[in-house]
Amino acid sequence: MKPVQLFVPTFRTEECLAAIRECLDKGWTGLGFKTAQFEEAWKAHTALPHAHFVSSATAGLHLALRMLKERYQWQDGDEIISTPLTFVSSNHVVLYERLQPVFADVDDYLCLDPASVASRITPRTRAVIFVGLGGNTGQLDAIISLCRERGLKLILDAAHMSGTRFHGRHVGLEGDVSVFSFHAVKNLPTADGGMICFPDAEQDAAARRWTWLGIDKDTFSRTHSDSSYKWHYQVEHVGFKYHGNSIMAAIGMVSLKYLETDNAYRCQLAAWYDEALQGADEVTRVPTAPDCESSRHLYQVLVDRRDQVMVALNQEQIYPGVHYRDNTVYPMYANQPSCPRARRASDRVISLPLHLQMEQGDVARVCDALRRSTRQRP
Ligand SMILES: Cc1ncc(COP(=O)(O)O)c(C=O)c1O
Repeated sequence: MKPVQLFVPTFRTEECLAAIRECLDKGWTGLGFKTAQFEEAWKAHTALPHAHFVSSATAGLHLALRMLKERYQWQDGDEIISTPLTFVSSNHVVLYERLQPVFADVDDYLCLDPASVASRITPRTRAVIFVGLGGNTGQLDAIISLCRERGLKLILDAAHMSGTRFHGRHVGLEGDVSVFSFHAVKNLPTADGGMICFPDAEQDAAARRWTWLGIDKDTFSRTHSDSSYKWHYQVEHVGFKYHGNSIMAAIGMVSLKYLETDNAYRCQLAAWYDEALQGADEVTRVPTAPDCESSRHLYQVLVDRRDQVMVALNQEQIYPGVHYRDNTVYPMYANQPSCPRARRASDRVISLPLHLQMEQGDVARVCDALRRSTRQRP
């Protein structure tokens, strides 16, 4: 029996190799050249006004926190409201900046619940990190309103949201900054990479200095400009080495070309799952929010006795995933206010296999096995 894996990245190998060859022939694999082309292509695709290619979404999220902290003079220990149901990157970046993550509970979409967020606001709250889990926008409109009313910054962790449309337009302009992931298993695969998108040119320019050690001009511009004294660049502050490189951008350019057709096929797989799980009372499907055309990074369901169900599926060579374990199970987030819905979801959630190499028959096989395993008595 063929194993059905959770994620299998699809690379258009020949096209990627041709794009990489272009970098190698040119002798330029770093920042500039393809990274600039990729940023332009991403902006054209999403209609976002600014975008800077970074080495990962983790790097981008860290940079977002650092830049907002400096710009608004947040103090160490100031509070950032976040979700316990996320990849640890979303929360680690808060700790990197000596800020305090404060968890709020999730809703039926497994995204932050606005009422719970409101209940966590204190005089020290500065921002909310909203994770669009699996490509879902959840109650993002209510979160945006809440942030506006209460003077909080909004950081969109859009790691799963390449191609997600909200009210008909690509996500990314809802908050003060948005960060996408182009990790190999995401909808727009490279090997590692991400995009940080600010709404204005000034912050975009600042982000470029930050990701290149605080240097005010990148090596590509210096090498390819006619001006003399190319070595006289300025270092304005202690920045990071977080920019993306041309090899990753070359792969990203190819993946971007296929993003919409790939996401359409992901939606088709989700529709097959919906159909095959009709009437499966033991399986609760996580809904997609209204006005959200999800990237369908994930197809999530909730079941009782999740761990046993996972083992039973594994025995049939089906390997789903869990997104995510409630982060309070990790020691650095143990002392958080209680989030009972996130805890319950953490014990029950399964991400069913979802990738471009699956066919309708694979979906049927997963659903048959899921129905059987959820009906088994303990
Ligand atoms: C919700 C979320 N945020 C952030 C990240 C970090 O992305 P990257 O691997 O590009 O650093 C991930 C990666 O899995 C993620 O799932």
